[in-house]
Amino acid sequence: MRKTELIKLFVNGEEHSLAVPVQRTLLEALRYDLGLIGSKQGCDKGDCGACTVLARPRQGSGRGEPILSCITLAADAQDLAVTTIEGLAGPQGLDVVQRAFVDCGALQCGFCQPGMMLSARALLDNCPKPSLPQIKEALSGNLCRCTGYSQIYQAVQVAAGMRKPSARAPVQAERAAPSDSVAHPVKEIVP
Ligand code: FES
Ligand code: FES
Repeated sequence: MRKTELIKLFVNGEEHSLAVPVQRTLLEALRYDLGLIGSKQGCDKGDCGACTVLARPRQGSGRGEPILSCITLAADAQDLAVTTIEGLAGPQGLDVVQRAFVDCGALQCGFCQPGMMLSARALLDNCPKPSLPQIKEALSGNLCRCTGYSQIYQAVQVAAGMRKPSARAPVQAERAAPSDSVAHPVKEIVP
């Protein structure tokens, strides 16, 4: 029988005590123990970025930097404060990054979006007015099989207040993903 261990995770502002199998990854703990299925299980080996979450030391400030939760052991994340896509929206509603992705039609199947948005959020937290090369570099670890990336890059520029969405983008966004699905992407988009 597989051994379990007791761990504590601090996720989206709440501490959770969990008994998890030894070697549980952070992604598995988020999805299967905490029910935070916005973090996607794609390649499960650090290649696609779908499992990206933000993390910082618990005593630190801000949301932190992107990490790949599929190659991070849950036990090793105990000293971190983790933000998942479920924790990105605030009391006022969607984060500006989430809103920009909708307004720019930067959503198709939605599988890459939680990780992509969190990487974009971390970029803008560190660099409020990034250049296009900086945006491409910051999102280079997040693969998207659907969009061709241009609407995603545009969305980051819109979120940064550097441009307006193109005129036809909101129609695409409406067809691709209602705004509520940005905050709860897996439940609504992934079977
Ligand atoms: S699931 Fe692909 S990098 Fe983690
Ligand atoms: S929208 Fe489908 S993988 Fe990016």
